[in-house]
Amino acid sequence: MSTPYIAPSLLAADFLHIAQAVDIINNSEADWLHLDVMDGRFVPNISFGMPIIAAVKKMIKKTCDVHLMIVEPEKYAADFKKAGADILTVHYETCPHLHRNIQQIKDLGMKAGVAINPHTTIGQLENIITDVDLILVMSVNPGFGGQSFIPQTYQKLRQLRKLINETGAKALIEVDGGISAHNAADIIHAGADVLVAGSSVFGAPDPVKAIAELKAAAMA
Ligand code: DX5
Ligand code: ZN
Repeated sequence: MSTPYIAPSLLAADFLHIAQAVDIINNSEADWLHLDVMDGRFVPNISFGMPIIAAVKKMIKKTCDVHLMIVEPEKYAADFKKAGADILTVHYETCPHLHRNIQQIKDLGMKAGVAINPHTTIGQLENIITDVDLILVMSVNPGFGGQSFIPQTYQKLRQLRKLINETGAKALIEVDGGISAHNAADIIHAGADVLVAGSSVFGAPDPVKAIAELKAAAMA
């Protein structure tokens, strides 16, 4: 992919002003909107679910990239499709029947992604890599925004890029957690296609400018 994609995460927005956050995304260089769903079981936090996504969908002009940090995602895949998910990503660690989960997501008409925690190795993806549209490499432990990027992620990105090249897989590599204009170029150079950014966008005084800076840094 030539141009890196930027996917701001709604998790870091002011939930009293979600419409304003969607407006910001619509009027920015953002490519996707990243939506973090947490269940308090897989991760030690609870965020939001289908009703918020359905409301956002009415206004958003960008791709809705839904990151499910929940157990038993197969129970809700159809509901997330109905709410407006364009891409649905499930965690490797929550899916003993990952191949079936991926097929279900595709059959519902969404792009299918697999997310891996920091401790999960790239080798685990060997038998699924050609079936997925996206691999989401967590560069923090999932559950909270505002954490620091784990440097070991760079090595994993290089390994994943190699696996994709060797297998001819079409999957995009998305990276999530602790990303700002300071490390965007390094992450892209290590192999990433899509950068998720929460606090570095919505914590900035001018989020539209922060998105533009992130994109410029990623292209450097
Ligand atoms: C963390 C979420 C991330 C989070 C990123 O579990 O998956 O998408 O919103 O936030 P920052 O960019 O603040 O690390
Ligand atoms: Zn996320």
